[in-house]
Amino acid sequence: MLKVDLSGAKSFFDAAGPDYAAAAAAHRTLTEGTGAGADFTGWLGLPQRVKNEELKQIVSAANRIRGRSEVLVVIGIGGSYLGAKGAIELLRPRPQAGDPKIIFAGNSMSPDALQGLLEELGEKDFEINVISKSGTTLEPALAFRMFRGLLEAKYGAEKAAKRIVATTDAHRGVLKGMADEAGWETFVVPDDVGGRFSVLSAVGLLPMAAAGIDATAVIETAIASLAAMDQRSPENPAWQYAAARQHLYRLGKSIEILACYEPTFRYMAEWWKQLYGESEGKNGIGIYPASVEYNADLHSMGQYVQDGPRTLMETVVTFENSLNEFNVPFSMGDPDSLNYLAGRKLSEISRLAQEAVKQAHISGGVPNMEIKVERRDEVGFAELVTFFELACGISGYMSGVNPFDQPGVEAYKKNMFKLLGKPGAQ
Ligand code: PA5
Repeated sequence: MLKVDLSGAKSFFDAAGPDYAAAAAAHRTLTEGTGAGADFTGWLGLPQRVKNEELKQIVSAANRIRGRSEVLVVIGIGGSYLGAKGAIELLRPRPQAGDPKIIFAGNSMSPDALQGLLEELGEKDFEINVISKSGTTLEPALAFRMFRGLLEAKYGAEKAAKRIVATTDAHRGVLKGMADEAGWETFVVPDDVGGRFSVLSAVGLLPMAAAGIDATAVIETAIASLAAMDQRSPENPAWQYAAARQHLYRLGKSIEILACYEPTFRYMAEWWKQLYGESEGKNGIGIYPASVEYNADLHSMGQYVQDGPRTLMETVVTFENSLNEFNVPFSMGDPDSLNYLAGRKLSEISRLAQEAVKQAHISGGVPNMEIKVERRDEVGFAELVTFFELACGISGYMSGVNPFDQPGVEAYKKNMFKLLGKPGAQ
Protein backbone atom coordinates (compact mmCIF):
# COMPACT_ATOMS: atom_id res chain seq x y z
CA MET A 1 0.00 0.00 0.00
CA LEU A 2 1.22 3.50 -0.87
CA LYS A 3 2.64 5.53 1.98
CA VAL A 4 3.27 9.24 2.47
CA ASP A 5 6.26 10.29 4.56
CA LEU A 6 6.08 13.87 5.79
CA SER A 7 9.11 13.69 8.07
CA GLY A 8 11.07 15.91 5.68
CA ALA A 9 8.44 18.66 5.87
CA LYS A 10 7.75 18.67 9.61
CA SER A 11 10.35 21.27 10.50
CA PHE A 12 8.59 23.68 8.11
CA PHE A 13 5.14 23.30 9.63
CA ASP A 14 4.12 25.98 12.09
CA ALA A 15 2.59 25.03 15.44
CA ALA A 16 -0.80 24.28 13.92
CA GLY A 17 0.53 21.74 11.39
CA PRO A 18 -1.50 20.42 8.46
CA ASP A 19 -5.21 21.12 8.76
CA TYR A 20 -6.69 17.62 8.87
CA ALA A 21 -10.10 18.97 9.88
CA ALA A 22 -10.17 20.88 6.58
CA ALA A 23 -9.02 17.75 4.73
CA ALA A 24 -11.85 15.79 6.38
CA ALA A 25 -14.39 18.42 5.34
CA ALA A 26 -13.05 18.50 1.76
CA HIS A 27 -13.18 14.71 1.58
CA ARG A 28 -16.82 14.80 2.73
CA THR A 29 -17.67 17.48 0.18
CA LEU A 30 -16.13 15.30 -2.51
CA THR A 31 -17.82 12.03 -1.64
CA GLU A 32 -21.19 13.56 -0.75
CA GLY A 33 -21.19 15.50 -4.02
CA THR A 34 -21.96 18.83 -2.36
CA GLY A 35 -19.11 20.90 -3.82
CA ALA A 36 -18.57 22.88 -7.01
CA GLY A 37 -18.12 20.58 -9.99
CA ALA A 38 -19.77 17.63 -8.22
CA ASP A 39 -21.10 16.46 -11.60
CA PHE A 40 -17.52 15.54 -12.48
CA THR A 41 -16.65 13.28 -9.57
CA GLY A 42 -17.57 10.05 -11.34
CA TRP A 43 -13.89 9.03 -11.32
CA LEU A 44 -14.32 8.07 -7.65
CA GLY A 45 -16.35 5.04 -8.71
CA LEU A 46 -14.87 4.58 -12.17
CA PRO A 47 -12.78 1.42 -11.58
CA GLN A 48 -15.78 -0.30 -10.02
CA ARG A 49 -17.98 0.66 -12.99
CA VAL A 50 -15.42 -0.40 -15.57
CA LYS A 51 -14.57 -3.67 -13.86
CA ASN A 52 -16.89 -6.15 -15.52
CA GLU A 53 -18.34 -5.97 -19.03
CA GLU A 54 -16.46 -2.90 -20.20
CA LEU A 55 -13.09 -4.19 -19.08
CA LYS A 56 -13.71 -7.42 -20.99
CA GLN A 57 -14.47 -5.43 -24.14
CA ILE A 58 -11.40 -3.28 -23.67
CA VAL A 59 -9.14 -6.30 -23.20
CA SER A 60 -10.70 -8.04 -26.19
CA ALA A 61 -10.17 -4.99 -28.44
CA ALA A 62 -6.60 -4.72 -27.17
CA ASN A 63 -5.93 -8.39 -27.92
CA ARG A 64 -7.31 -8.00 -31.43
CA ILE A 65 -4.97 -5.04 -32.01
CA ARG A 66 -2.03 -6.98 -30.54
CA GLY A 67 -2.81 -9.95 -32.75
CA ARG A 68 -2.74 -8.17 -36.09
CA SER A 69 -0.96 -4.82 -35.90
CA GLU A 70 2.61 -3.74 -35.40
CA VAL A 71 1.62 -0.20 -34.47
CA LEU A 72 -1.29 1.40 -32.64
CA VAL A 73 -1.62 5.11 -33.33
CA VAL A 74 -3.23 6.72 -30.28
CA ILE A 75 -4.61 10.13 -31.15
CA GLY A 76 -5.49 12.52 -28.31
CA ILE A 77 -4.29 15.47 -26.27
CA GLY A 78 -4.23 16.49 -22.59
CA GLY A 79 -6.33 14.18 -20.48
CA SER A 80 -7.03 12.09 -23.55
CA TYR A 81 -3.42 10.95 -23.79
CA LEU A 82 -1.14 11.77 -20.88
CA GLY A 83 -2.37 8.97 -18.59
CA ALA A 84 -1.83 6.24 -21.17
CA LYS A 85 1.50 7.72 -22.21
CA GLY A 86 2.57 7.92 -18.56
CA ALA A 87 1.53 4.33 -17.88
CA ILE A 88 3.21 2.89 -20.97
CA GLU A 89 6.48 4.76 -20.41
CA LEU A 90 6.48 3.69 -16.77
CA LEU A 91 5.52 0.03 -17.15
CA ARG A 92 6.43 -0.88 -20.71
CA PRO A 93 9.13 1.55 -21.76
CA ARG A 94 10.35 -0.81 -24.49
CA PRO A 95 7.94 -3.07 -26.43
CA GLN A 96 8.40 -6.76 -25.61
CA ALA A 97 7.86 -9.69 -28.00
CA GLY A 98 4.31 -9.50 -29.36
CA ASP A 99 3.76 -5.90 -28.29
CA PRO A 100 2.73 -3.42 -30.94
CA LYS A 101 4.52 -0.09 -30.82
CA ILE A 102 2.25 2.63 -29.42
CA ILE A 103 2.65 5.94 -31.23
CA PHE A 104 1.01 9.05 -29.77
CA ALA A 105 -0.27 11.59 -32.30
CA GLY A 106 -2.51 14.65 -32.15
CA ASN A 107 -0.72 16.27 -29.22
CA SER A 108 1.08 18.86 -31.33
CA MET A 109 0.64 20.72 -34.61
CA SER A 110 4.29 20.49 -35.57
CA PRO A 111 4.72 19.31 -39.18
CA ASP A 112 8.17 18.03 -38.21
CA ALA A 113 6.78 15.99 -35.35
CA LEU A 114 4.17 14.55 -37.71
CA GLN A 115 6.88 13.62 -40.20
CA GLY A 116 8.72 11.83 -37.41
CA LEU A 117 5.63 9.79 -36.58
CA LEU A 118 5.05 8.92 -40.23
CA GLU A 119 8.64 7.71 -40.52
CA GLU A 120 8.19 5.62 -37.39
CA LEU A 121 5.02 4.13 -38.85
CA GLY A 122 6.59 3.36 -42.22
CA GLU A 123 4.87 0.48 -44.01
CA LYS A 124 3.86 -1.32 -40.82
CA ASP A 125 0.41 -2.72 -40.21
CA PHE A 126 -1.44 -0.31 -37.94
CA GLU A 127 -4.70 0.77 -36.46
CA ILE A 128 -5.99 3.88 -34.76
CA ASN A 129 -7.48 4.64 -31.37
CA VAL A 130 -8.81 8.19 -31.58
CA ILE A 131 -9.66 9.63 -28.17
CA SER A 132 -11.58 12.86 -27.64
CA LYS A 133 -14.36 13.41 -25.15
CA SER A 134 -15.66 16.51 -26.90
CA GLY A 135 -14.82 15.14 -30.32
CA THR A 136 -13.98 18.64 -31.48
CA THR A 137 -10.47 19.34 -30.19
CA LEU A 138 -8.51 20.65 -33.16
CA GLU A 139 -5.09 19.05 -32.59
CA PRO A 140 -6.32 15.43 -32.46
CA ALA A 141 -9.05 16.06 -35.04
CA LEU A 142 -6.46 17.18 -37.60
CA ALA A 143 -4.17 14.24 -36.83
CA PHE A 144 -7.09 11.84 -37.13
CA ARG A 145 -8.02 13.16 -40.54
CA MET A 146 -4.47 12.53 -41.72
CA PHE A 147 -3.93 9.09 -40.20
CA ARG A 148 -7.40 7.97 -41.21
CA GLY A 149 -6.56 8.95 -44.78
CA LEU A 150 -3.42 6.79 -44.59
CA LEU A 151 -5.37 3.89 -43.13
CA GLU A 152 -8.02 4.04 -45.86
CA ALA A 153 -5.38 4.31 -48.57
CA LYS A 154 -3.62 1.25 -47.19
CA TYR A 155 -6.56 -1.06 -46.42
CA GLY A 156 -9.53 0.40 -48.33
CA ALA A 157 -12.44 2.16 -46.60
CA GLU A 158 -14.28 -0.98 -45.50
CA LYS A 159 -11.31 -2.76 -43.89
CA ALA A 160 -10.00 0.52 -42.48
CA ALA A 161 -13.28 0.96 -40.58
CA LYS A 162 -12.45 -2.23 -38.68
CA ARG A 163 -9.12 -0.74 -37.68
CA ILE A 164 -10.46 2.38 -35.98
CA VAL A 165 -11.60 2.51 -32.38
CA ALA A 166 -13.10 5.79 -31.17
CA THR A 167 -13.18 6.66 -27.46
CA THR A 168 -15.55 9.56 -27.00
CA ASP A 169 -18.76 10.86 -25.43
CA ALA A 170 -21.65 8.38 -25.28
CA HIS A 171 -24.09 10.65 -27.09
CA ARG A 172 -22.64 13.93 -28.36
CA GLY A 173 -19.92 15.32 -30.59
CA VAL A 174 -18.61 15.15 -34.12
CA LEU A 175 -16.50 12.07 -33.40
CA LYS A 176 -19.45 10.16 -32.01
CA GLY A 177 -21.46 11.03 -35.14
CA MET A 178 -18.62 9.91 -37.42
CA ALA A 179 -18.18 6.66 -35.49
CA ASP A 180 -21.87 5.82 -35.65
CA GLU A 181 -22.01 6.51 -39.35
CA ALA A 182 -18.88 4.55 -40.22
CA GLY A 183 -19.52 1.71 -37.77
CA TRP A 184 -16.26 2.03 -35.84
CA GLU A 185 -16.00 0.28 -32.52
CA THR A 186 -16.50 2.82 -29.73
CA PHE A 187 -15.70 3.18 -26.06
CA VAL A 188 -17.14 5.82 -23.80
CA VAL A 189 -15.62 8.65 -21.81
CA PRO A 190 -18.23 8.89 -19.05
CA ASP A 191 -20.18 12.16 -18.73
CA ASP A 192 -19.19 12.57 -15.10
CA VAL A 193 -15.45 12.13 -15.64
CA GLY A 194 -13.26 14.99 -16.92
CA GLY A 195 -10.34 14.31 -19.26
CA ARG A 196 -7.60 14.59 -16.65
CA PHE A 197 -9.40 12.09 -14.39
CA SER A 198 -10.13 9.59 -17.18
CA VAL A 199 -7.04 7.36 -17.22
CA LEU A 200 -8.86 4.47 -15.55
CA SER A 201 -11.55 4.45 -18.26
CA ALA A 202 -11.12 3.15 -21.81
CA VAL A 203 -9.21 6.40 -22.48
CA GLY A 204 -6.18 5.01 -20.68
CA LEU A 205 -6.96 1.32 -20.42
CA LEU A 206 -7.22 0.46 -24.12
CA PRO A 207 -3.81 1.85 -25.13
CA MET A 208 -2.32 0.38 -21.96
CA ALA A 209 -3.75 -3.09 -22.60
CA ALA A 210 -2.70 -2.91 -26.26
CA ALA A 211 0.84 -2.17 -25.05
CA GLY A 212 0.81 -5.32 -22.91
CA ILE A 213 -0.06 -3.82 -19.52
CA ASP A 214 -2.37 -5.92 -17.35
CA ALA A 215 -5.47 -3.69 -17.28
CA THR A 216 -7.32 -6.08 -14.98
CA ALA A 217 -4.60 -5.82 -12.33
CA VAL A 218 -4.71 -2.02 -12.67
CA ILE A 219 -8.46 -1.91 -12.14
CA GLU A 220 -8.48 -4.40 -9.26
CA THR A 221 -5.76 -2.46 -7.47
CA ALA A 222 -7.53 0.84 -8.12
CA ILE A 223 -10.72 -0.50 -6.52
CA ALA A 224 -8.83 -1.74 -3.44
CA SER A 225 -6.83 1.46 -3.20
CA LEU A 226 -9.87 3.75 -3.38
CA ALA A 227 -11.63 1.63 -0.74
CA ALA A 228 -8.59 1.86 1.55
CA MET A 229 -8.37 5.63 1.07
CA ASP A 230 -11.99 6.08 2.08
CA GLN A 231 -10.59 5.98 5.60
CA ARG A 232 -11.52 9.18 7.44
CA SER A 233 -8.47 9.91 9.56
CA PRO A 234 -5.12 11.68 9.41
CA GLU A 235 -3.65 8.27 8.59
CA ASN A 236 -5.18 8.58 5.12
CA PRO A 237 -2.25 9.23 2.73
CA ALA A 238 -4.44 11.46 0.53
CA TRP A 239 -5.29 13.66 3.52
CA GLN A 240 -1.62 13.80 4.51
CA TYR A 241 -0.44 14.92 1.09
CA ALA A 242 -3.32 17.32 0.41
CA ALA A 243 -3.18 18.95 3.85
CA ALA A 244 0.63 19.19 3.88
CA ARG A 245 0.92 20.82 0.45
CA GLN A 246 -1.89 23.30 1.20
CA HIS A 247 -0.19 24.17 4.49
CA LEU A 248 3.15 24.71 2.79
CA TYR A 249 1.48 26.83 0.09
CA ARG A 250 0.14 29.13 2.79
CA LEU A 251 3.69 29.44 4.12
CA GLY A 252 4.84 30.76 0.74
CA LYS A 253 5.89 27.52 -0.96
CA SER A 254 4.03 28.25 -4.17
CA ILE A 255 5.87 25.80 -6.47
CA GLU A 256 5.78 22.04 -6.03
CA ILE A 257 8.42 20.02 -7.83
CA LEU A 258 7.59 16.38 -8.35
CA ALA A 259 10.77 14.35 -8.46
CA CYS A 260 11.47 10.72 -9.22
CA TYR A 261 14.68 8.74 -9.56
CA GLU A 262 13.21 6.54 -12.31
CA PRO A 263 13.63 8.02 -15.82
CA THR A 264 10.54 6.07 -16.92
CA PHE A 265 8.44 8.28 -14.63
CA ARG A 266 8.77 11.28 -16.97
CA TYR A 267 5.27 11.15 -18.46
CA MET A 268 3.64 10.23 -15.17
CA ALA A 269 4.98 13.58 -14.00
CA GLU A 270 3.43 15.21 -17.09
CA TRP A 271 0.11 13.54 -16.23
CA TRP A 272 0.42 14.76 -12.62
CA LYS A 273 1.19 18.31 -13.81
CA GLN A 274 -2.01 18.42 -15.83
CA LEU A 275 -4.03 16.89 -13.00
CA TYR A 276 -2.91 19.43 -10.44
CA GLY A 277 -2.32 22.44 -12.70
CA GLU A 278 -5.69 22.27 -14.41
CA SER A 279 -7.51 21.44 -11.19
CA GLU A 280 -5.99 24.03 -8.87
CA GLY A 281 -4.66 26.91 -10.96
CA LYS A 282 -7.64 29.24 -11.04
CA ASN A 283 -9.09 32.39 -9.46
CA GLY A 284 -5.56 33.78 -9.15
CA ILE A 285 -4.33 31.02 -6.82
CA GLY A 286 -2.80 27.55 -7.01
CA ILE A 287 0.42 25.69 -6.42
CA TYR A 288 2.48 25.65 -9.64
CA PRO A 289 3.25 22.00 -10.47
CA ALA A 290 6.69 21.39 -11.94
CA SER A 291 8.78 18.26 -12.31
CA VAL A 292 12.40 17.17 -12.25
CA GLU A 293 14.10 13.91 -13.18
CA TYR A 294 16.73 12.83 -10.70
CA ASN A 295 19.67 12.08 -10.79
CA ALA A 296 19.96 13.88 -14.16
CA ASP A 297 18.38 17.13 -12.98
CA LEU A 298 20.50 17.24 -9.84
CA HIS A 299 23.21 18.30 -12.27
CA SER A 300 21.11 20.94 -13.99
CA MET A 301 18.30 22.14 -11.70
CA GLY A 302 20.02 21.09 -8.46
CA GLN A 303 21.56 24.52 -7.97
CA TYR A 304 18.19 26.25 -8.22
CA VAL A 305 16.49 23.78 -5.90
CA GLN A 306 19.25 24.08 -3.29
CA ASP A 307 19.85 27.79 -3.50
CA GLY A 308 17.29 29.69 -5.60
CA PRO A 309 14.17 31.50 -4.32
CA ARG A 310 12.76 29.64 -1.31
CA THR A 311 9.34 29.16 -2.83
CA LEU A 312 9.74 25.43 -3.51
CA MET A 313 8.34 22.32 -1.93
CA GLU A 314 9.55 18.95 -3.20
CA THR A 315 7.54 15.75 -3.55
CA VAL A 316 9.55 12.63 -4.30
CA VAL A 317 7.94 9.48 -5.70
CA THR A 318 9.91 6.40 -4.70
CA PHE A 319 9.64 2.81 -5.87
CA GLU A 320 10.96 0.89 -2.88
CA ASN A 321 12.14 -2.22 -4.74
CA SER A 322 13.78 -1.96 -8.14
CA LEU A 323 12.92 -4.61 -10.71
CA ASN A 324 16.59 -5.28 -11.47
CA GLU A 325 19.81 -5.32 -9.51
CA PHE A 326 23.49 -4.80 -10.28
CA ASN A 327 26.62 -5.02 -8.15
CA VAL A 328 29.51 -2.64 -8.70
CA PRO A 329 32.42 -4.68 -10.10
CA PHE A 330 35.87 -4.72 -8.50
CA SER A 331 38.57 -3.20 -10.71
CA MET A 332 42.22 -4.28 -10.38
CA GLY A 333 44.44 -1.34 -9.43
CA ASP A 334 41.39 0.86 -8.69
CA PRO A 335 42.13 3.21 -11.64
CA ASP A 336 38.93 5.23 -11.10
CA SER A 337 39.13 5.10 -7.29
CA LEU A 338 35.73 3.45 -7.07
CA ASN A 339 36.74 0.23 -5.34
CA TYR A 340 35.28 1.58 -2.09
CA LEU A 341 31.93 0.82 -3.77
CA ALA A 342 32.94 -2.56 -5.24
CA GLY A 343 30.50 -5.33 -4.43
CA ARG A 344 27.76 -2.92 -3.32
CA LYS A 345 24.34 -2.92 -4.91
CA LEU A 346 23.47 -0.10 -7.30
CA SER A 347 20.04 0.17 -5.63
CA GLU A 348 21.69 0.70 -2.24
CA ILE A 349 24.03 3.37 -3.63
CA SER A 350 21.05 5.08 -5.23
CA ARG A 351 19.08 4.97 -1.98
CA LEU A 352 21.92 6.60 -0.04
CA ALA A 353 22.30 9.24 -2.73
CA GLN A 354 18.57 9.96 -2.43
CA GLU A 355 18.89 10.36 1.32
CA ALA A 356 21.79 12.76 0.81
CA VAL A 357 19.73 14.84 -1.63
CA LYS A 358 16.77 14.90 0.74
CA GLN A 359 18.84 16.16 3.67
CA ALA A 360 20.61 18.75 1.52
CA HIS A 361 17.35 20.14 0.16
CA ILE A 362 15.71 20.26 3.57
CA SER A 363 18.69 22.12 5.01
CA GLY A 364 18.47 24.44 2.00
CA GLY A 365 14.90 25.38 2.95
CA VAL A 366 12.93 23.00 0.71
CA PRO A 367 10.33 20.90 2.53
CA ASN A 368 10.30 17.30 1.37
CA MET A 369 7.32 14.97 1.04
CA GLU A 370 7.85 11.36 0.00
CA ILE A 371 5.34 9.11 -1.71
CA LYS A 372 6.41 5.50 -1.52
CA VAL A 373 5.08 2.59 -3.53
CA GLU A 374 6.48 -0.89 -3.52
CA ARG A 375 7.53 -1.37 -7.10
CA ARG A 376 7.20 -0.07 -10.65
CA ASP A 377 4.36 -2.37 -11.73
CA GLU A 378 0.61 -2.33 -12.34
CA VAL A 379 -0.10 -2.24 -8.61
CA GLY A 380 2.24 0.68 -8.00
CA PHE A 381 0.82 2.54 -10.99
CA ALA A 382 -2.81 2.12 -9.89
CA GLU A 383 -1.98 3.14 -6.33
CA LEU A 384 -0.28 6.30 -7.57
CA VAL A 385 -3.13 7.24 -9.91
CA THR A 386 -5.92 6.78 -7.35
CA PHE A 387 -3.88 8.48 -4.64
CA PHE A 388 -3.03 11.53 -6.75
CA GLU A 389 -6.61 11.84 -8.04
CA LEU A 390 -8.19 11.65 -4.59
CA ALA A 391 -5.63 13.98 -3.03
CA CYS A 392 -6.20 16.41 -5.91
CA GLY A 393 -9.95 16.56 -5.29
CA ILE A 394 -9.37 17.07 -1.55
CA SER A 395 -6.60 19.61 -2.03
CA GLY A 396 -8.64 21.55 -4.60
CA TYR A 397 -11.64 21.81 -2.29
CA MET A 398 -9.35 22.78 0.60
CA SER A 399 -8.05 25.68 -1.47
CA GLY A 400 -11.59 26.82 -2.28
CA VAL A 401 -11.63 26.25 -6.05
CA ASN A 402 -13.76 24.03 -8.26
CA PRO A 403 -11.15 21.33 -9.02
CA PHE A 404 -13.16 19.90 -11.90
CA ASP A 405 -13.52 22.71 -14.42
CA GLN A 406 -10.95 24.30 -16.74
CA PRO A 407 -12.44 27.57 -18.04
CA GLY A 408 -8.98 29.00 -18.72
CA VAL A 409 -8.26 26.42 -21.43
CA GLU A 410 -10.90 27.96 -23.69
CA ALA A 411 -9.22 31.37 -24.09
CA TYR A 412 -6.61 30.27 -26.63
CA LYS A 413 -9.12 28.17 -28.55
CA LYS A 414 -11.37 31.20 -29.06
CA ASN A 415 -8.50 33.25 -30.50
CA MET A 416 -7.19 30.37 -32.58
CA PHE A 417 -10.50 29.57 -34.23
CA LYS A 418 -11.00 33.28 -35.03
CA LEU A 419 -7.54 33.50 -36.59
CA LEU A 420 -8.11 30.30 -38.54
CA GLY A 421 -11.40 31.61 -39.90
CA LYS A 422 -13.59 28.85 -38.49
CA PRO A 423 -17.19 29.52 -39.56
CA GLY A 424 -19.09 31.13 -36.68
CA ALA A 425 -15.95 31.88 -34.60
CA GLN A 426 -15.88 35.35 -32.96
O1 PA5 B 1 -8.63 17.46 -18.86
C1 PA5 B 1 -9.20 17.95 -19.82
O2 PA5 B 1 -10.40 18.16 -19.82
C2 PA5 B 1 -8.43 18.29 -21.07
O3 PA5 B 1 -7.09 18.04 -20.96
C3 PA5 B 1 -8.94 17.49 -22.24
O4 PA5 B 1 -8.76 16.13 -21.95
C4 PA5 B 1 -8.22 17.85 -23.51
O5 PA5 B 1 -8.38 19.21 -23.77
C5 PA5 B 1 -8.74 17.04 -24.67
O6 PA5 B 1 -10.11 17.21 -24.79
P1 PA5 B 1 -10.98 16.18 -25.62
O7 PA5 B 1 -10.86 14.86 -24.96
O8 PA5 B 1 -12.37 16.72 -25.54
O9 PA5 B 1 -10.43 16.17 -27.02
